[in-house]
Amino acid sequence: MWKKLFNRPQSNLRNTINTNHINKDAMPKHIAIIMDGNGRWAKKQGLPRTFGHQAGAETLRTIVKLCSQLGVQVLTAYAFSTENWKRPDEEVNFLMRLLSDYLDNEIDELNENQVRIRFIGNVSELADQLQQKIIHAQTVTNDNSGLILNLAVNYGGRLEITKAVQQISDKVRCGEIDSSVITEEIISQHLYTTGLPDPDILIRPGGDYRISNFLLWQLAYTELWFTDICWPDFKAEHLMQAIQNYQQRDRRFGGLKHTK
Ligand code: IPE
Ligand code: IPE
Ligand code: MG
Repeated sequence: MWKKLFNRPQSNLRNTINTNHINKDAMPKHIAIIMDGNGRWAKKQGLPRTFGHQAGAETLRTIVKLCSQLGVQVLTAYAFSTENWKRPDEEVNFLMRLLSDYLDNEIDELNENQVRIRFIGNVSELADQLQQKIIHAQTVTNDNSGLILNLAVNYGGRLEITKAVQQISDKVRCGEIDSSVITEEIISQHLYTTGLPDPDILIRPGGDYRISNFLLWQLAYTELWFTDICWPDFKAEHLMQAIQNYQQRDRRFGGLKHTK
């Protein structure tokens, strides 16, 4: 079934989506998405939760393509958290297989769209075969010049910060850096997202209003946008709404309202 989903013919989104309402010169550089509500979407239709995950993978495909066409620089999508291992084995295995299939089926299209795929999270805990696919996907898309697609898999914000603290402590211990020069920048450099701008907007579909351990450090000044729409029902038009809304926000970063 997912092979069928992944192999669907592509439509040219540029021709079907009205992008007139957004300002192409003020696009968010980095969009982060908590892809939530798959299970509830399936339940509403009397289907097993796995169907929601399959449909969610299709939404990701659409949104990656749209972000890449809109000139967004980075899309970080939360696919599996460090807490999601608490789910039944069947569901966890299904999600891992879905990721594996995504990597098998999407490389050509990612390359066609100049998308560079990267992974954030504790990938070393995943099955060896999946890790190999991840390395392969990163390698074969590494020279692409367009959107960076960051997939957060076995990702936890607290774990990420904990690991950064461990790495920095090791460097202090062996004299590589002095503890007096540990700055916010040094901490950022030890996160999975090193080198990337912080997200400008966080989108969470599914109707819950929380962060769920996602990008705790990086979201410090991110604009938040929530919707009750479940991820499998999230369409290009919802992304456009979120971007349009983001463009009306007054980002002050603790300063004063910008007056002309
Ligand atoms: C998000 O959808 C996907 C993952 C967390 C892997 P959910 O599976 O959390 O769906 P709901 O929140 O139960 O509807
Ligand atoms: C967050 O969703 C994780 C992902 C979407 C991958 P959850 O469904 O796991 O979050 P909670 O449990 O509702 O906070
Ligand atoms: Mg959920």
